[in-house]
Amino acid sequence: MGSFRSLALVLLVVFVAPVAVRGWGVDGHFITCKIAQGRLSQTAVEAVNSLLPEYAKGDLASLCSWADHVKFRYHWSSPLHYIDTPDNLCTYQYRRDCKDEDGVMGRCVAGAIMNYTTQLLDYGKQTSDYNLTEALLFLSHFMGDIHQPLHVGFTSDRGGNTIDVHWFTRKAVLHHVWDDSIIETEEERFYGSNVDDLTNAIETNITNVWGDQVKAWENCSGSQKTCPTTYATEGINAACNWAYKGVTNGSVLEDDYFLSRLPIVNWRLAQGGVRLAANLNRIFG
Ligand SMILES: *[C@@H]1O[C@H](CO)[C@@H](O)[C@H](O)[C@H]1NC(C)=O
Ligand SMILES: *[C@@H]1O[C@H](CO)[C@@H](O)[C@H](O)[C@H]1NC(C)=O
Ligand SMILES: *[C@@H]1O[C@H](CO)[C@@H](O)[C@H](O)[C@H]1NC(C)=O
Ligand SMILES: *[C@@H]1O[C@H](CO)[C@@H](O)[C@H](O)[C@H]1NC(C)=O
Ligand SMILES: *[C@@H]1O[C@H](CO)[C@@H](O)[C@H](O)[C@H]1NC(C)=O
Ligand SMILES: [Zn+2]
Repeated sequence: MGSFRSLALVLLVVFVAPVAVRGWGVDGHFITCKIAQGRLSQTAVEAVNSLLPEYAKGDLASLCSWADHVKFRYHWSSPLHYIDTPDNLCTYQYRRDCKDEDGVMGRCVAGAIMNYTTQLLDYGKQTSDYNLTEALLFLSHFMGDIHQPLHVGFTSDRGGNTIDVHWFTRKAVLHHVWDDSIIETEEERFYGSNVDDLTNAIETNITNVWGDQVKAWENCSGSQKTCPTTYATEGINAACNWAYKGVTNGSVLEDDYFLSRLPIVNWRLAQGGVRLAANLNRIFG
């Protein structure tokens, strides 16, 4: 039984791990959703609970990577995880950049956030044309992705996917360093490889260190429930100022890079979680 379990685990890792090519890795999404869950209003908690499938047992974080797992089944959804902006411009414009490789407008992570936000406004109506369970899972995942700096990256290197680096001694691509490696190394070095301890540390900083910024993170003016242009603009700025900065094809990234980029990763995870909660609270009133 024990060895059967480990075999199953190995197979799971082998077949599931390579799927997460674009997007925070599993832990990044888990952290974002976990932070959000702790900040939901009572009405939002009730709506989320009623939309989540039974097996999630009310835990949104457990399904925060669902959108990565359906990329093959829902092939149309794969361009919705990121935005490609023109090389080296370091700006984001919806009309210029939010399209897929065939040029279809709105098909990027910012467009998807608007799309699934609008769908969720049907919650509580008699009928909806949409599957609101899927809308909730997509929105929760994409709010994480848009806060990963290299999800709003340059076109020709596909958000750092074609930039080869060494993460300490291991081969990696720059995109993966930002999806997973920085978070994993942080967990190993400072949190006994425990994702819950890292989540708690970020939550503590949301209150104590970033407390005076939180209102501005949540802010989304006028009648809008979500402000993806703000998130994407911050994203490409962080990509230029921190992710791409000082990196060339073949760079070896070690403590200098790790320790200076770590605060940016923690800060973007915090913003993603705070804003996911703020958006869900606005949507479900
Ligand atoms: C909007 O959501 C629908 C339903 O999931 C999907 O078919 C469509 O591709 C989505 N479009 C965007 C831009 O997110
Ligand atoms: C909505 O989507 C979920 C997840 O894909 C699926 O399990 C469920 O059957 C769908 N509900 C309907 C009514 O189609
Ligand atoms: C980096 O080098 C690899 C291997 O030589 C190459 O395939 C890749 O296109 C290069 N990436 C960039 C962004 O130049
Ligand atoms: C929390 O904030 C402190 C003080 O700025 C910082 O040293 C620490 O790395 C932060 N931890 C996380 C997880 O953000
Ligand atoms: C909220 O955002 C609007 C623009 O979207 C801005 O005018 C306003 O000053 C912001 N308020 C805060 C508290 O940041
Ligand atoms: Zn993703």
